[in-house]
Amino acid sequence: MSIFEQHPAPLVDIRDLRVSFNGVPVVHGVDLQLRAGQCLALVGESGSGKSVTARTLVGLTGAGAQVQAQRLAFAGQDLRRLGEADWQRLRGGRIGFVMQDALGSLDPLRRVGAEVEEPLLLHTPLSAEQRRLRVLELLRQVGVPEPEVRARQYPWQLSGGLRQRALIASAIACQPRLLIADEPTTALDATVQAQILDLLEHLRARDNSLLMVSHDLAVVARLADWVAVMRHGVVVEQGSVEQILQDPQDPYTQRLLNAARAVHFQRPAVPALALVEDTVEEQPVVLEARGLHKAFVGPDGQPREVLNDVSLQLRAGQTLGVVGESGSGKSTLGRILLGLERPEQGSVHLAGQDWLALSCAQQRQARQGIQVVFQDPLASFDPRYTVLRVLTEALAQAGVPRGL
Ligand SMILES: Nc1ncnc2c1ncn2[C@@H]1O[C@H](COP(=O)(O)OP(=O)(O)OP(=O)(O)O)[C@@H](O)[C@H]1O
Ligand SMILES: [Mg+2]
Repeated sequence: MSIFEQHPAPLVDIRDLRVSFNGVPVVHGVDLQLRAGQCLALVGESGSGKSVTARTLVGLTGAGAQVQAQRLAFAGQDLRRLGEADWQRLRGGRIGFVMQDALGSLDPLRRVGAEVEEPLLLHTPLSAEQRRLRVLELLRQVGVPEPEVRARQYPWQLSGGLRQRALIASAIACQPRLLIADEPTTALDATVQAQILDLLEHLRARDNSLLMVSHDLAVVARLADWVAVMRHGVVVEQGSVEQILQDPQDPYTQRLLNAARAVHFQRPAVPALALVEDTVEEQPVVLEARGLHKAFVGPDGQPREVLNDVSLQLRAGQTLGVVGESGSGKSTLGRILLGLERPEQGSVHLAGQDWLALSCAQQRQARQGIQVVFQDPLASFDPRYTVLRVLTEALAQAGVPRGL
């Protein structure tokens, strides 16, 4: 029973939603309601069906999906009967959405400004000049510095956090009645995240609704009115945010909350840590960077310094954390250490070898000793490859014969 039962016409009304992919059921009868001006948060373990449920509300469940529901309605409109043209009218206009992994799906050939402008072009009567000003205003609202410069850049010229903000700007461009945000703040540092949360709160205060998917219970606590916990394709528990976060009934929700409390800054006990560091000191240096400088040329032709005299050293068995605000150069540093990008100045030594002096073939060979998990994992896979093929090719690259 939900609090929305008292209100006969919620903005979003989902009853007994069932979704299968090629006959395999993944969502098994979900009931959710969302009223105007409210924020509903979907939480729950990975693979539980949160994103599939959210995508279904914009008609993007996925290829091969079969969707069934007793009721699936937005603002009184039956979504089960919509054709592609109806969806296009709704999407980006009255329903804005930021998909999970959307970073990788940004069109690499389209400038950021055009990306943000698209919903304005499709859904509003604004003139070209009005749209241009609105795009700059939106970029500013989501905390993108130098919006004039950024609007003229391509997505791959932006850091992950900046791209995430551009996506949010595009999603809120038409002031949608419903904003669906699937993990909207995962790539953002604490200060930008706070700014985005302010903005979302502001949208909600103007009677717009928010459906949010988040693993971050602090974000949920701040924004949500109502929380639904999903597991294995069903909602195991739902209730007001106070009820769920303070007095969860379902054992799974209790574990989720305990895990969230435990994860904060856990470190081994001090003596153990000291011991680890003592032994590590004698270990050989695996990776060393000295005096790295890197600048990118902006669309105004001016170079922008991204790395200014960065040095680091990593010994065998050590873990080095690189932290810093969004756009501060962390991923660029990572790409230089991998030899995927060249610095203007400075050196990188990998196991004593000068990385930058190696030929491409030698670098490829050396790269087998380094593994990387990129920020946008979806973008690093070929969408036509199965998981099996991705793993088999990686093993083949490392010299493991096929069939093993
Ligand atoms: N396009 C698709 N084709 C086939 N199966 C899919 C597709 N999209 C999702 N699934 C499956 O549906 C199930 C639910 O996935 P979903 O993406 O909704 O999980 P989630 O709760 O959002 O997880 P996470 O927290 O990891 O984002 C998973 O088993 C997933 O593999
Ligand atoms: Mg998801």
